[in-house]
Amino acid sequence: MPFIDNYFLFAYIWIAIGFISFPLILKYDAPYGRHTSSDWGPLVDNKLAWIIMELPALILCPLIVFLSENVLSNLTKFFILLWVLHYFNRSIVFPIRIKTKKKKMPFIIAFLAIVFNIVNGLINGLYFSNIGYNYPESWILSPQFIFGIIIFIFGFYINNISDSHLISLRKGHDNKYVLPQKGLFKFVSCPNFFGEIIEWLGFAIMTWSIAGLAFFLWTFFNLVPRALSHHKWYKEKFPDYPKSRKAVFPFIL
Ligand SMILES: NC(=O)c1ccc[n+]([C@@H]2O[C@H](COP(=O)([O-])OP(=O)(O)OC[C@H]3O[C@@H](n4cnc5c(N)ncnc54)[C@H](OP(=O)(O)O)[C@@H]3O)[C@@H](O)[C@H]2O)c1
Repeated sequence: MPFIDNYFLFAYIWIAIGFISFPLILKYDAPYGRHTSSDWGPLVDNKLAWIIMELPALILCPLIVFLSENVLSNLTKFFILLWVLHYFNRSIVFPIRIKTKKKKMPFIIAFLAIVFNIVNGLINGLYFSNIGYNYPESWILSPQFIFGIIIFIFGFYINNISDSHLISLRKGHDNKYVLPQKGLFKFVSCPNFFGEIIEWLGFAIMTWSIAGLAFFLWTFFNLVPRALSHHKWYKEKFPDYPKSRKAVFPFIL
């Protein structure tokens, strides 16, 4: 089978696994952060796990593209730059900033996240090195690019200011949880997840690719259930939790 057929088969299988896993992810609260639990086997340091589990995505996608024999267009290089920007933040900056001293997460969660980041890095790296390596400059004027980049920037911004707000809540509170009140937290419990979902939706639209679509769908499958369990947790822990606040999508869910 030629590479391109194998690639699309791989991407479709990965998307299908996402759809099949979604009900399971909805059923179990992913046991890290506030839901961490020793019932899921041996535990590892939370901060270190974040670095190790996100690094494969930071390295793999750009490495595959870098090693490719195809000459990349400037626009394809720009897409890779956005990827690196996101994953440099997620695998290096974010873990350094979080205040989770002595907190742990199950090894199995870190392992599953590594598998996710390897497959996601492969799907995107192989796409941009072998299929989408020559986006023409005229693509910048396409509705997909214009609409997609606006959504991406909006999502990236929301994700980062919301994560920063959560991190700032821990100052002087030593691993405690504080009721977030600022910005989009007035509307949803997890604006950081809303931002991340929007960000990868924007990436999928601007690249108009199966690789971007797969990443967006998996982000949705991972983060909507987590937002629902965070939302439920907040309502149980804070009796005065604002009634109008939704879990992840303002005014909707
Ligand atoms: N693309 C994907 O599939 C995917 C999957 C997972 C995560 N992510 C991204 O990774 C980032 C982190 O995810 P996460 O699940 O760890 O997010 P999270 O549960 O919202 O936690 C983010 C950080 O803020 C702290 N925190 C959360 N709520 C707090 C509160 N009320 N008071 C004080 N501190 C609070 C957490 O501490 P604790 O750890 O102690 O709770 C953690 O350090 C997010 O930006 C998310 O979008 C992406």
